[in-house]
Amino acid sequence: MRTWFVTGGTPGGFGQAYADAALETGDRVVLTARRPEELREWARPYGDRVLVLPLDVTDAAQVCAAVAEAEQRMGGIDVLVNNAGRGWYGSIEGMAEDAVRRTSDLNFFALLSVTRAVLPGMRERRRGWIVNMSSVAGVRIAAMAEDPPPRRLVLGSDAYDAVTSTLREALTDITWSEAASCAADFPPGT
Ligand SMILES: NC(=O)c1ccc[n+]([C@@H]2O[C@H](COP(=O)([O-])OP(=O)(O)OC[C@H]3O[C@@H](n4cnc5c(N)ncnc54)[C@H](OP(=O)(O)O)[C@@H]3O)[C@@H](O)[C@H]2O)c1
Repeated sequence: MRTWFVTGGTPGGFGQAYADAALETGDRVVLTARRPEELREWARPYGDRVLVLPLDVTDAAQVCAAVAEAEQRMGGIDVLVNNAGRGWYGSIEGMAEDAVRRTSDLNFFALLSVTRAVLPGMRERRRGWIVNMSSVAGVRIAAMAEDPPPRRLVLGSDAYDAVTSTLREALTDITWSEAASCAADFPPGT
């Protein structure tokens, strides 16, 4: 039985969909959200297979506290799903400075801080999965560049692709996940 740690667990969103899928296969889930009270009813039937924790991913102290509590109560995190994030669409020159910074804080720095908090445990156990929720619009920015001027800037969750590539190379010691990390048949059968 694996333990999942999922960010951005707002009811009806992708985070909750990840949680439902993991629970369906018999795994345990730590589902985090800014308003955990909204998940109380959903969590009830799963008993101690689900732990709902408050988490604003841009609050580094809260990230450390949530990961520590998840590890302590569930005995370790096997799958991290960095799902919390938001896209921003518009012209490059039209983007307000504070919007650039807020979007980068959420889509890049927060993802890094959750990953940094979870990695030591995965390294220690020499196994783990990290799923970074990206955006087709962000990845396929070329498609947006076909728009008539002004060209669109899509500042989405894909900003961390460099981090993902680096992790993939740097974590070869986590052999269990390394071989399967690019496979299409997630979650793995073993
Ligand atoms: N839906 C799509 O078509 C689509 C397309 C491309 C990519 N994505 C990506 O998929 C992921 C989930 O999208 P979604 O459509 O399910 O949800 P969404 O409606 O786009 O909302 C984003 C999710 O991130 C959470 N979030 C935002 N800021 C947060 C913060 N500071 N701390 C913790 N959580 C925070 C939101 O929680 P709150 O409810 O508290 O705001 C919500 O759960 C996102 O990364 C999104 O960029 C979605």
